[in-house]
Parts: sequence; C-alpha cells; structure tokens
Amino acid sequence: MFDKEKLEGADIGIDFCGYHLQSPYILSSGPLTYGSEGMIRGYKAGCGAVVTKTIRKEAAINPVHHMGTVNQDSLINCEKWADSDRQQWYDKEIPEAVKAGVIVIASVGHTLGEAKEIVEEVEKAGAHMIELVSYTEDTLIPMLDYTKAHVKIPVICKLSGNWPDPVGTAKLCLEHGADGLCAIDSIGPTLKIDIKKARPELMSGDGYGWMTGAAMRPISMRINSEIARNTPELRNLYASGGVMSADNAIEYMMAGAMGAGVCTVGILKGVNYIEKMCYDLSKRLKELGYDSVADVNRAALPNFPKKEYVSKLDFHFQPFKEDGKKLCVSCGKCVNACCYEARKLAFPEMTVDQDKCRYCGLCVDVCPTGALTADRAPQTAEDLELERMSKEFYESVK
Ligand SMILES: Cc1cc2nc3c(=O)[nH]c(=O)nc-3n(C[C@H](O)[C@H](O)[C@H](O)COP(=O)(O)O)c2cc1C
Repeated sequence: MFDKEKLEGADIGIDFCGYHLQSPYILSSGPLTYGSEGMIRGYKAGCGAVVTKTIRKEAAINPVHHMGTVNQDSLINCEKWADSDRQQWYDKEIPEAVKAGVIVIASVGHTLGEAKEIVEEVEKAGAHMIELVSYTEDTLIPMLDYTKAHVKIPVICKLSGNWPDPVGTAKLCLEHGADGLCAIDSIGPTLKIDIKKARPELMSGDGYGWMTGAAMRPISMRINSEIARNTPELRNLYASGGVMSADNAIEYMMAGAMGAGVCTVGILKGVNYIEKMCYDLSKRLKELGYDSVADVNRAALPNFPKKEYVSKLDFHFQPFKEDGKKLCVSCGKCVNACCYEARKLAFPEMTVDQDKCRYCGLCVDVCPTGALTADRAPQTAEDLELERMSKEFYESVK
C-alpha cells in the first residue's frame, strides 16, 4: 500500500481541478477501473484519482477475445465501455469507491443523449469530477455545454489523437468551460494478425483494435506539449498514453502535463506497480533538481527550438568510472546503431570517423550506461551556411 512517508525526495502531490491528489498518477478509464474494487486497489497503490470505466446508457457486450499485446510494452484492444449497468455505477461502484476515500472521476460517453441521462446521476452518486469522452469532436462540445449547465463538479474533456485537430478542440473545450483536459485516448484503428491462425487476433467486427502503451507515447507527448504551448494558463491537463515509468511521467510533466494517466502499465505489470512508480518519481524529481511536480511542470517548454539547427556533435567517451570500474560494458550497441559504419570500439579505445559520421545522435541514445555522451558543437560559419541553404530550399518547395 502506498505510504507517503516512504517518499525519499520531492513532493509528488498535485492540485488538479480543485482537488489535492496524493500523486499525479490518474488510473485511466479501462479494465482496471471495472468497478469499486479495482478503483480502490488503484487508490491504495498510490493513484491520485481514478477514472471509472466509461459509463453509457447500455452495458457493453465485448467480443472474444478483445485484448492482446504489441511488443512487450503496448496493447491492442477492442474492449468497449463499461460492461455493468449504469444503475450499478450510481448505486454501488461510485459510492463504495468514494466511501473508501478514492477521488473518483466518472467517465461518461459517448453522445449528448447519454450525457443528458448520466451526468447528473454520477454527480448525485458522489463522483468528484466527470470526464467526457466521445467518438468525434463535434459530439464533445454539446456534451460539455450540457454537462457544465447541469452539474457543479469539475468537468474534464478527453481528447483523441485520432481527430484531425485535437489541439484546436482542446482550446474549444476550454472556451466552453472545461475545467480540465485529458490527452489522449487510444490510437487507432490498428491491426494485429495472429500468424499461426492467419487471421486478425481481435474479434471486433472488422478485426481492428485500439493501441495503447509505450508505442503511442511520442504521439501523445507531441499533442500534450502542443496543447500546453497553446494554452499558457492551463494547469489542469493530464496526459494519457504510454506512461510506463516515473521517467515517462516526468517527460510528460516537462512537456506541460500536470498529471499522468496510467492504464497499460497497470494491466501489464499489475496495478501495485504504480506504488513503485510513486517512490521512483519522488526520488527522480529530486535527483533532477525539482522539489515538486508543480516545479517540473512545463520545464521543457522554453527549450523548444525556434528554428532548425545545424552543427556537429562533440562526443565524449568515458570507458571507466571514477573508481576504476568499467563504465562502458562493450555491448556494441553504439557501433551497431551506426548506419554509416563510422564508429569503432576496441575497448578502452573508441573512435569515430568524422568523414562518415552524420551526427544523428543515435549512438549516444542507445548507450545503456552513459559512457558515450555528446554535446552540440558550437556552430561554425559552414554550419550556419548549411542551415541557411536548408531553410531556403525548404521554403522554396513548401
Ligand atoms: C483495454 C482498454 C480499455 C479501455 N477502455 C476505455 C474506456 O472505456 N474509456 C476510455 O475513455 N478509455 C479507455 N481506454 C483508454 C485508456 O483510458 C487510456 O487513455 C489509454 O489506454 C492510453 O493510456 P495507456 O497507454 O497508459 O494505456 C482503454 C484502454 C484499454 C487498454
């Protein structure tokens, strides 16, 4: 069970939509929040809030089967919304979780008609906030307008990266009074083939499913950062998509999110893994020089480039640690990753052929121990000229 007293570094509590959350991890709507038991488990593991499985007018009937893995750290699923009756959510699931001290966000989907039937009921049942989710952007705004006019609790809008303009929709939601935003929902439609059976692995009507987990993180990162950069005052933004570790959560926070949704990590590693992620987050923030989540929020935004940059890299190779033990483990990843065969390693010597190297930076990124690092070299007159030519060409063809 998560114990705040065991935190060894920074404060990980956050203020979100008027509530103080014990951690920035928000257990996203999904199979782990199927009912009160799952929501209470998530809270005990350290989640600051939990989002119910999406409540709709009718309980879902799911195809079999409806969840599979993509690589080691991502999922594909065609699971629908909540498979229990909405009355059960009002009478049992929400009140039981609230009574246990959980901050409950009721997920309501997917149409205006359903919002009209459900939002007041979940508020009466004790939900602290509502998260609206819809298939299209056009449906979300009428749902939001109705909900804002009929409930007093904060309303979050969940955005989808599958929409043509999630950033524009984010701004529109805020103009229509949304108290918070969640970006983004699962990516798709996507497909996985079971090669032993030569058919789609998932049994949805078209065989397609929705992708979640690490594979979608860079897409969600970009959208979260773009929302944050376009809404300087926004603090009630929580990211969703591939938060698999405390470091991933910090990445999102630096890019502008205050909270970090967790779903796939809890499914693949067990929900109790979130507890470790809380302690890791506290330690890691402190190591990086931050005292709190509020402190790290938006830290990377001033550092986004204003233009393309051309230079060389100054590589640094440190084969041994200060105590004489090996820092480079001779794994060869830097050598293998070089598309141009520019890098050679004969431990403890490392060389790079400056004529072959294109300074892509991958060799540094794949080094598992930090033995190989690089800084951008100061720009020479030649670099500046290349930068100018590149810009000129790009502008002439766009
Ligand atoms: C099996 C499964 C079911 C999901 N069901 C819902 C749902 O009912 N409503 C919803 O808004 N999001 C649902 N999601 C999306 C998650 O809330 C979350 O936005 C997404 O999984 C990305 O986060 P992650 O990479 O941490 O999993 C579901 C995700 C999974 C994996």
